[in-house]
Amino acid sequence: MTINIGPLAVADPVILAPMSGVTDLPFRRLVKELGAGLVVSEMIASEAMIRHNRRTLQMATNCADEHPMAVQLAGYDPEVMAAAARLNQDRGAALIDINMGCPARKIVAKGKGAALMQDLDRTRAILESVREAISVPLTIKIRGGWDYEHLNAVEVAELAESIGVDGITVHPRTRSQKFTGKAPWEIIRDVVDAVDIPVTGNGDVTSRAEARLMIEQTGCASVMVGRGAMGAPWIFSEGFEYMDRDAQDQYKRGVIEDHVRLMEEHLWERKALIQIKKNLAWYITNGWRARIRRREIFECTTVPQVWDVFLAFWEMRRHDEEIIAAALAAKRPVSPVAQSPLLQTTTAVHLAS
Ligand SMILES: Cc1cc2nc3c(=O)[nH]c(=O)nc-3n(C[C@H](O)[C@H](O)[C@H](O)COP(=O)(O)O)c2cc1C
Repeated sequence: MTINIGPLAVADPVILAPMSGVTDLPFRRLVKELGAGLVVSEMIASEAMIRHNRRTLQMATNCADEHPMAVQLAGYDPEVMAAAARLNQDRGAALIDINMGCPARKIVAKGKGAALMQDLDRTRAILESVREAISVPLTIKIRGGWDYEHLNAVEVAELAESIGVDGITVHPRTRSQKFTGKAPWEIIRDVVDAVDIPVTGNGDVTSRAEARLMIEQTGCASVMVGRGAMGAPWIFSEGFEYMDRDAQDQYKRGVIEDHVRLMEEHLWERKALIQIKKNLAWYITNGWRARIRRREIFECTTVPQVWDVFLAFWEMRRHDEEIIAAALAAKRPVSPVAQSPLLQTTTAVHLAS
């Protein structure tokens, strides 16, 4: 189902959330190939962008295969943010998003991120300035408010709409709530009711089924998925939830291989090794063996070594899951010592090319 954010047609309502350290170019490309309608960069510092900081420029670099792709900007100075927005538009961003939700102390202390929810004069100045500077769609990503005493998502959304912002993403937790508790989806509904521009709901969605539920319950036009995609990008695939267990396993394995290939293709050698370790560790879930394998992964010094550890985990995990399930059914403890053969160190299993 296509949705429109300003003049931009987004072919699928499930969108990849911006995540620092996660939504780099290889991950965005992977997720776009899997079926996400739109992908968003990591948060980009506007000041560093206009100073042409090398690392920042790399983080904001995009490629044709991931389009449409949005760049998310953080900042405080309206002119700097306008210049950074223009620069990203010129470098191929299909949409510019303004971060109004980052809770990190070092960001809010400088009046950026979630601090903007408390400073509507500055928010107005930033949005007017950026709106003026770009022709691609402009969106904002907000929280429910600063804290429970200041739930002003609706007020901020109405202000943004009046300035000509094309869409709003609502992560309804407050800044003080950070990631605790359940995201109060009713705040998304309140914003949907208050504005005519498309609203993207965000918070605690981990599957396409949950994304459909959020659309049903809040009336939002699209859904942004963050943590649910870390170590599980296949949730963007429409067919995945209808596959049986074996087909899902095979599919996941193919996705992980593609992800590693994309990291090797797009990142320089040392960075690729760091990101491959981090991402494969996220793909290692469940059970005592997972913890051991994750530790082993971080001790590796080459990509083939990382693969060996990962595949040793992958080959055995169904077996482990069955042992755990049987132990749970028999109400007996699952002891790694009792299963000592499972704790052997990694055997060299190479990825079939
Ligand atoms: C590791 C990590 C990094 C994040 N970085 C950003 C960011 O750069 N910009 C942003 O707007 N939100 C960021 N977020 C918040 C997510 O975009 C999203 O709003 C939040 O995780 C709630 O959605 P979820 O429940 O689907 O994870 C980050 C979240 C995580 C877990």
